[in-house]
Amino acid sequence: MATERPILFLDSGIGGIPYCRHFLQRNPGESIVYLADRQHFPYGRREKEELVAILRALVGRLIRTFNPKIAVIACNTATIAALSELRESFPGLPFVGTVPAVKPAALTSKTGKIGLLGTELTIRQPYIRELAAHFGGGEIVGIAAPELVEFIENRIHLATAEEKTEMVRGYLEQFRADGLDTLVLGCTHFLFLLEDFRRESSPDITVFDSVEGITHRIEALDAEAAHPENPPRGRLILTGTGEPEASWTSWADSLGFDLSLLEER
Ligand code: DGL
Repeated sequence: MATERPILFLDSGIGGIPYCRHFLQRNPGESIVYLADRQHFPYGRREKEELVAILRALVGRLIRTFNPKIAVIACNTATIAALSELRESFPGLPFVGTVPAVKPAALTSKTGKIGLLGTELTIRQPYIRELAAHFGGGEIVGIAAPELVEFIENRIHLATAEEKTEMVRGYLEQFRADGLDTLVLGCTHFLFLLEDFRRESSPDITVFDSVEGITHRIEALDAEAAHPENPPRGRLILTGTGEPEASWTSWADSLGFDLSLLEER
């Protein structure tokens, strides 16, 4: 029996879009709801407990509204801060989290130093260091980049190639000064600059991201689910009450999704 139950992607803003796009390229028949929690953006500046409460309330509401079959927390900050609490609160819903790709970086690094670019909340969490230690990967050099999150959320669609390169070079300079050979993009927003990071970090620093791994994880969980024969158009849903900014219309169009507010539902 075909099911219309969607796969839910959730981020504070546009950060989950590269994940959603990659998944859809391989699975075009899936029904998708992409939730951008613009009301609470940026997540990275919040305290863990506060973010857990926000996400518990939001995910509960999304379950009641959309009855998703899988929830993808397409946000590193939300995953690290709240995934275990969400799993506990909603045991009937399979979750896929996005953990920064520390494992492959730790297994590859020769200098034993791994760069991690993330939000303030992510960089503060001990979990990342424990993960690196677990894979024998030595030291994590973490840099919090809230201004890069803001730049991508608000300006990436307008930014010139030079602006993007300049932004990326600033961080790479700091990482190079620390003598590391691997860099993990530990915030889903940064995927919008993946090519810039790869180009500018070559040949001495290898950049890691988690896009393919996440798509495979969703596919593995979804393997037994029925796929809708005529999937409805994807939906891009925003929190908050204000009119969607024009950029949201462009993001929705670029995905071929309909745009609406969660408040209206
Ligand atoms: N996209 C989110 C992440 O992966 C964070 C952005 C924010 O601070 O809201 O960490």
